[in-house]
Amino acid sequence: MDFSLTEEHIMIRDAARDFAQTELLPGVIERDEKEEFPTEQVKRMGELGFMGMMVDPKYGGGGMDAISYVLAMEEISKIDASASVIMSVNNSLVCWGLETYGTQEQKQKYLTKLATGEIIGSFALSEPEAGSDATKQRTIAEDKGDYYLINGTKNWITNGRTAGIHLVIAHTHPEKGHHGINAFIVEKGTEGLVVGPKERKLGIRGSDTHSLLFTDVKVSKENRIGEDGFGFTFAMKVLSGGRIGIASQALGIASGAYERALQYSKERKAFGKEISRHQAIAFKLADMKTKIEAARHLCMKAAWDKDQHNNYDLSSAIAKYFAAEMARWVTTEAVQIHGGYGYVKEYHVERMMRDAKITQIYEGTSEIQQIVISRSILKD
Ligand code: CAA
Repeated sequence: MDFSLTEEHIMIRDAARDFAQTELLPGVIERDEKEEFPTEQVKRMGELGFMGMMVDPKYGGGGMDAISYVLAMEEISKIDASASVIMSVNNSLVCWGLETYGTQEQKQKYLTKLATGEIIGSFALSEPEAGSDATKQRTIAEDKGDYYLINGTKNWITNGRTAGIHLVIAHTHPEKGHHGINAFIVEKGTEGLVVGPKERKLGIRGSDTHSLLFTDVKVSKENRIGEDGFGFTFAMKVLSGGRIGIASQALGIASGAYERALQYSKERKAFGKEISRHQAIAFKLADMKTKIEAARHLCMKAAWDKDQHNNYDLSSAIAKYFAAEMARWVTTEAVQIHGGYGYVKEYHVERMMRDAKITQIYEGTSEIQQIVISRSILKD
């Protein structure tokens, strides 16, 4: 077993770190405050190859492995979790889904643009009454021969306003349950597709989260992904990889908060010495470091499983569950170490604490990960 990173991995990690420090850090507090989408920064992420990291170079991607993706996600999330969720949805849900299950035509038409960041994508699964219980889709795609007519509402869609294409999950045959679900590529601006108002969020406030309203939206048959009825399996497969991305995001948010808390504790003095030299703080730092390292190993294991073409449903759920819970705890402790300074914006950790919370919710809540994990260990 070899835990060392290759030279290429180190190069990718350092490039992501450098980009995050020089181009994401300036303005991250203001973007959070103003709920401003990082347009220029996402464009740069495309130019630097972070928007389609694992896509085959023949479609304009970086051809990198999932380990590289974890490393880049961690570095970018350390500084700006809004930018990293935009990156994660594009990489692990949209690009990977299209590359793995799309037709040649779909790949040429859409993946080439997504992989370079020319456009970004969204993944529209959640609905007002189908979040965790993803089989209960109310959105209907009625089969009209050579096209479908989509009607319904999607909620909480990351990249909802900015996305050039949406991967939309809808029922075509509700009587068949989850076997009657399909996935479609719907282009921005298609007649009948209305983007709802931006959600006002606790965290990841720079990302644009919207509902999508579909009224008689016409989608050609060529834009269905996979065989008829493949949509639910598609969504589950895509989400398994997505969970590696969100686990890495949680890891990055926690590492960023820990690094700030460590630095602060070495500078701040109380009761005659640096607070890091008080055992109460030193032990907190030890616990933070230990949990972060554990999460990093779980993220790497899930990424390694993906790279080895092993089944990674379980390892990605474990990584996501542990890393999200860990990030909520670590970021809260980072605020605590900062005392009153931790509660104000200039010190960054309050934003990280707010951002960490969403990692316990999206791409399957912690409770959904517990379902996936427990079913896996209890099956005969
Ligand atoms: N791969 C392939 N197939 C899978 C699968 C997987 N990982 N998981 C389940 N399936 C298949 C099952 O085999 C089954 O098929 P068959 O009937 O043919 O055997 C079918 O899917 C239904 O499976 P279950 O009976 O296990 O389904 P369930 O209703 O009990 O739910 C669940 C399973 C894991 C809880 C699922 O509903 C789930 O993951 N829910 C959470 C959804 C989610 O993560 N939403 C996030 C929205 S996207 C987002 O957040 C993006 C963003 O903006 C950041």
